[in-house]
Formats: sequence, structure tokens, C-alpha cells
Amino acid sequence: MHKVNVNLGDQSYPILIGSNLLGDSSLINPYLGKGKLVVVTNEVVAPLYLEAVKSMLGGRCAGEIILPDGEQHKNLEVISEIYDYLLRNKFDRHTTLLALGGGVIGDITGFAAATYQRGIGYIQIPTTLLAHVDSSVGGKTGVNHSLGKNMIGAFYQPRCVLADIRVLDSLPEREIKAGLAEVVKYGLIRNAKFFDWLAENSKPISGLDDAYLVRAIKTCCEMKAGIVAQDEKEIGIRALLNLGHTFGHAIETAAGYGTWLHGETVAMGIVMAADLSRRLGWLDVSSAQRVRTVLEKNFGMPVVPPADISVDQYLDLMSSDKKVEQGEIRFILLKDIGSAVVEGNIAIETLRSTLTAGHGLCGEL
Ligand code: NAD
Ligand code: GLY
Repeated sequence: MHKVNVNLGDQSYPILIGSNLLGDSSLINPYLGKGKLVVVTNEVVAPLYLEAVKSMLGGRCAGEIILPDGEQHKNLEVISEIYDYLLRNKFDRHTTLLALGGGVIGDITGFAAATYQRGIGYIQIPTTLLAHVDSSVGGKTGVNHSLGKNMIGAFYQPRCVLADIRVLDSLPEREIKAGLAEVVKYGLIRNAKFFDWLAENSKPISGLDDAYLVRAIKTCCEMKAGIVAQDEKEIGIRALLNLGHTFGHAIETAAGYGTWLHGETVAMGIVMAADLSRRLGWLDVSSAQRVRTVLEKNFGMPVVPPADISVDQYLDLMSSDKKVEQGEIRFILLKDIGSAVVEGNIAIETLRSTLTAGHGLCGEL
């Protein structure tokens, strides 16, 4: 078992990473608190892992909330359903919620915990690769609004993250690939060596070979823990973790939540960011093409955005991105592989070229 600490003073917590962790109650016991425990999960994950989690809790599970599956349900309605359940069943402020699921369940549960009776404890038990490497760590919680992705939320840290790679055995291949988009993101923003390693070992990583998978997850968690420890509330460096997300969130919202997987739109967004960086003369053509090749060919991700989103739609959706400052859309762009920056001063014509490039993103391959 590997342990990565997120160092945030009295809100510090460990990320425990390994195989068969759900079978070992001693790992989670120190973080459960004295109050009642409620597992929040969804209708896909519940039949797979709810019993294992309940047995890990050794008879202490006092409630379970099984939500409908999917990004389209990540909204204030389900938050309200969670409040209703907790209030109806008289769960007090010593209750701890356990988020058993992917990023959708983690974000929803974290936000419910942040706001129920002004804040109760929660624990992340991520069950997708994306949640292992990104969403379960760092305390970004929240839900979508019809006008924008993740627009309602709070920074609120979990008590611990229990990342058991065995739960990934049941994850569909498309979801694995979507998670890998966030993995590749870490290499691109700050760690060129990690990017090279991912490119060289895409087969065993995509095939979920335990040793490669644990190394990839641990590296991502270490990087995210380091960034969050420096900038929990995204005043500065944490914004780099949004590489590909300004474009990606616009695609996700425009297409309708649930049409594309979050990680798929991140893959498209990363290629668009690489393309824009190339057009600005910051990233050389071969590096931009390599970004696209690794995502598209090595990891089999979709990288060309849907053709039916107009430039005006992109600009409208991106203008309410959370990184917008004084009306200026700020993008995470690449100066090199392993070196990302935040930039707002982009000529509209250059941006338009990227938004309309389609199959021509990053130049002819
Ligand atoms: P998800 O939670 O929708 O899970 C993907 C699918 O896999 C769902 O159908 C789910 O039911 C199913 N599933 C989950 N675990 C499974 C398992 N072990 N076996 C079989 N099926 C399983 O999607 P996701 O990709 O995990 O998360 C995407 C969400 O995460 C988005 O809403 C995104 O905004 C959010 N996110 C948040 C952060 C953050 O920092 N909070 C970071 C990145 C992404
Ligand atoms: N996934 C972006 C962040 O946690 O900041």
C-alpha cells in the first residue's frame, strides 16, 4: 500500500493507494469519526461494491443513498434529495458521508457534506480511474448548472481517500481511456519525464497492469497533492490542473451533460490547447503533434471536437468559465511538454482558428 499525504495543516489527509484495500477495515477506521456513517453511491456502483464497503465498516453503516447514474444527474436536485434523506432520518452533524463512485458521486457527496448542517465529514472511495488520479483529491466539490459545468460548489477537503485499484477491474474501457486523459494532463503541465513514460508504456497502463497503474496513480496523486498544498483555493498554480478544461467544459455543456465523458472532452481540450499554443508560436509543431498522437494513437482517445459547436457558442460558454478575470478568458497553454502557463491575452483570430480547426488540430500529422 502507498500513502500520499495532502498537506493542508489541520485539514491534511492521506490518499491510500493499493490493491484490495476495501478488504482491510483497519485502513479506514481511523477516519470514520464517532458519528453515524452513510454511504452515497449510484445504481451502477452499488451492486458492485456497496456490500464490500458495508462489510469494511463492520456493521456501522447507518444509511445508504443510491443515486441515479450519470453526469446529467450532477445537479442541485440530487443534492436536495441527499438533504431530504439525511433530515428525514435525523442524521446529525457528527455524521460522515462516504462517497463510493466516480467523479460525479465524489463531487456531489463532497458538496452535500460541505453544506449539510454547515459541514459534516466525508471520505472519498473513488471507483473510476479519473477519480483515483484527480477528482477524489483536492476538495473541489460541486454540481453543474444548465448554463455551465461545476458552477455551484465549494472547496471542502475529505478526511481520507481510499483508492483501491481492484475496483477498476469492472470499469468499461471507454471510462479507462477517459481517466487516462487526466493522467496525461499531469505529464503535460509539469512533468515531461512522466509524459515520456506514459507514451512508452501506454499498453500496460491501458491494460491496467497493477505495477504500471499504481505508479501512474501515485505520480498523479503526488503531483496533485503538491499543487493543492501550495494553492488550495486556486489563486494561482492550481489553475494549471485545468489544462484542456476551458475548451472541454464548453464542449461538455454544449453537447449536453452525459453525451461525452468528462475525460473525453478533456482529451479534445488538451489537443485544442496544444494547437493554440502552436499557433502562438510557443509550442513547436512536432511537440504539438506529439501531444495529439499520444492521446489519439497511444491511448485511443477522441481528440477532434464535435463539428456542430459554433465559435459563438464556444465563446459564450467559455466566457463564464471560472478562470475568467475581468471579462478575459484565461487558457492553460503549453510552452513545452511539461511546462504549462496561464494566459489570457489571446488574439481572437488565433483563438477562432483553433476553434474551427477540427481534424486539422495541431497541423497535418
Ligand atoms: P462518473 O462518476 O460518471 O463515472 C463514470 C461511469 O462509470 C459511471 O457510469 C459510473 O457509474 C461508472 N462506474 C464508476 N465506477 C465503476 C466501476 N468501478 N465499475 C464499473 N462502472 C463504474 O465519471 P468520472 O469520469 O469518474 O468523473 C467525471 C466527473 O468528475 C465530472 O463531473 C467532472 O467534472 C468531475 N471531476 C472533478 C474533479 C475535482 O477535482 N473535483 C476533477 C476532475 C473531474
Ligand atoms: N481537477 C482540477 C483541480 O482539482 O483543480
